[in-house]
Amino acid sequence: MAQTLAADRAHAPAASSLLPVQEIMATHSEHRRMPHDATYAGGAAYVIDRFTPLDRAGVPIADLGFNRGDAVYDVVSVSRGSFFRLADHQRRFAASCKRVRLTNPLAAEEERAVLNRLVALAGYRDAYVWWGVTRGATPQRAADRTDPANFANRFFAYAIPYVFIADDERRSRGADAVVSREYFRIPPSSVDPRAKNLNGLDFAMSLFEAGDRGAEWSLLTDGAGNLTEAPGSNIFVVASGTVATPEDWCLEGITRMTALELVRDLGREVEVRKVAVAELMQADEAFLTSSAGGIVPLNSVDGVVLAGGPGPGPLTRALHDRYWQKRWEGWHGTPVDYTAA
Ligand SMILES: Cc1ncc(COP(=O)(O)O)c(C=O)c1O
Repeated sequence: MAQTLAADRAHAPAASSLLPVQEIMATHSEHRRMPHDATYAGGAAYVIDRFTPLDRAGVPIADLGFNRGDAVYDVVSVSRGSFFRLADHQRRFAASCKRVRLTNPLAAEEERAVLNRLVALAGYRDAYVWWGVTRGATPQRAADRTDPANFANRFFAYAIPYVFIADDERRSRGADAVVSREYFRIPPSSVDPRAKNLNGLDFAMSLFEAGDRGAEWSLLTDGAGNLTEAPGSNIFVVASGTVATPEDWCLEGITRMTALELVRDLGREVEVRKVAVAELMQADEAFLTSSAGGIVPLNSVDGVVLAGGPGPGPLTRALHDRYWQKRWEGWHGTPVDYTAA
């Protein structure tokens, strides 16, 4: 099968034929920013109980979310005026709160109204929308710190223009990644990666390691030779005709779920299981998935161009373009109500 894929590539259009999503967002009339109050030109935020322009948003500095990373969050994207899989993101966020014993002060309906209004206030047709719940301030009495009920959890959110972990140029040639040698992913027995959390120093340091090694992105293992995930993204490996993504030690990404559906739609099998680093090194193709960029092809790992390379492989290219085309046709979309501004 590796040969078949390699042969496919020989007949495939040039790698640069990936949809130039960033350019389309910048130039296409359906992506033009809606009229908005000038105070929200730099983005919109919601802090505890009120809306504010992003550049005036402040945080209570003693909140444990900020000084201990004691918080969970989620990110949903908007493109061409529609949220993508908003209900799935809200469901995952509720599960994240539950896993770490946080209580969202907002009901799901209120949460959705805040997220919608943030995008409407700033008039974005393409947005990155972050929201989170923090533990709140430390109770005065040490005796109160062992019961989560003694903390007043707080809600924060903001909307900014759509964020790409890999721009058009990087996606079209495929990113060059390294498997981190210096950092393993934080074990699930320490911090549950299914609760989307702020404990990301393993990712941050591994990205600097990637830079030091002349690469653009990092991939983390579990320390036992299995892939886990990457900064801000899940990983998929295409080898010997099958597609696989790690089953654990990772966030259950909404884009990962989307890629699983798209792969099956294309009539290909996909396996959710342990994926060894050795499989990646032999792979025909590999890609990352993230709300911040969709499908992100990999070109090389540890300086070695993937077997079918260079550039994105045929399955990755098909998934990349289908992801955006289907989104822009309204697939799993919730239109933003811009009258809510
Ligand atoms: C650690 C981690 N893994 C995976 C992902 C991808 O998740 P999603 O597709 O829901 O954006 C993210 C997104 O930010 C992440 O932070």
